[in-house]
Amino acid sequence: MEKMPYQPELERAQADVITSDWRNALPVLVGKKVTLRELEVTDAAALFAMLTPEEVSRFISPPPTTVAGFERFIMWASAERAAGRYACFAVVPHGMQTAVGIFQVRQLEPGFATAEWGFALGSAFWGTGMFMDGAEMVLNFAIETVGVLRLEARAAVANGRGNGALRKLGAVQEGVLRRSFLKNGEFLDQMLWSILGEEWRLNKVVFGKGSVH
Ligand SMILES: CC(C)(COP(=O)(O)OP(=O)(O)OC[C@H]1O[C@@H](n2cnc3c(N)ncnc32)[C@H](O)[C@@H]1OP(=O)(O)O)[C@@H](O)C(=O)NCCC(=O)NCCS
Repeated sequence: MEKMPYQPELERAQADVITSDWRNALPVLVGKKVTLRELEVTDAAALFAMLTPEEVSRFISPPPTTVAGFERFIMWASAERAAGRYACFAVVPHGMQTAVGIFQVRQLEPGFATAEWGFALGSAFWGTGMFMDGAEMVLNFAIETVGVLRLEARAAVANGRGNGALRKLGAVQEGVLRRSFLKNGEFLDQMLWSILGEEWRLNKVVFGKGSVH
């Protein structure tokens, strides 16, 4: 059979089809322990309860302080997703209907080649494996669906669990961002971590990690 000539326009158009899909609605990602899905306004009360206690919020940007504030955040997230700049997944453990945490990914430049992600779970769900289950699906989504080439994360140096979780995923520690995060009137140092799309794929092939569910 005659070989098809290389058609960069076609390839670009196909890529557009894939990457524009998630802007209409986030996919539902089903893992071993959790399902990730689009945030819904009805998640506001559960997320308020899960993410505002001191042990969860102490090292992250201040979450909304009321249920109504979470509702506004969820509407903002939906608009940002539709604009193709941001995606925020609700984490729903199997057997539950309510969200117990979030994973968010935002572009650092138009086109999403570089992006930053962040995550938080209610403390009752720490150390359960739900983080790793959700994180692997979010990494697959960011790299394979959105097309992120470099995914950054920042974690306050004092955030043992945040840094431990990123290390476990195979993220590379690149350096310390000195006094880069203002929290409760104090400037904190943050660790900068990155995961490259090509490394993530290789990791999956070598260790069988990050399987698409
Ligand atoms: C970050 C978060 C989502 C991770 O979920 P988690 O369920 O706690 O993560 P895991 O238990 O799978 O992994 C954390 C790892 O850090 C390790 N760890 C805990 N405290 C640590 C410390 N002080 N120093 C080093 N490692 C530590 C844990 O032992 C664990 O590794 P292990 O599974 O090999 O034992 C959760 O802790 C959270 O919501 N924290 C509050 C919000 C937050 O800080 N977000 C991160 C912003 S970067």
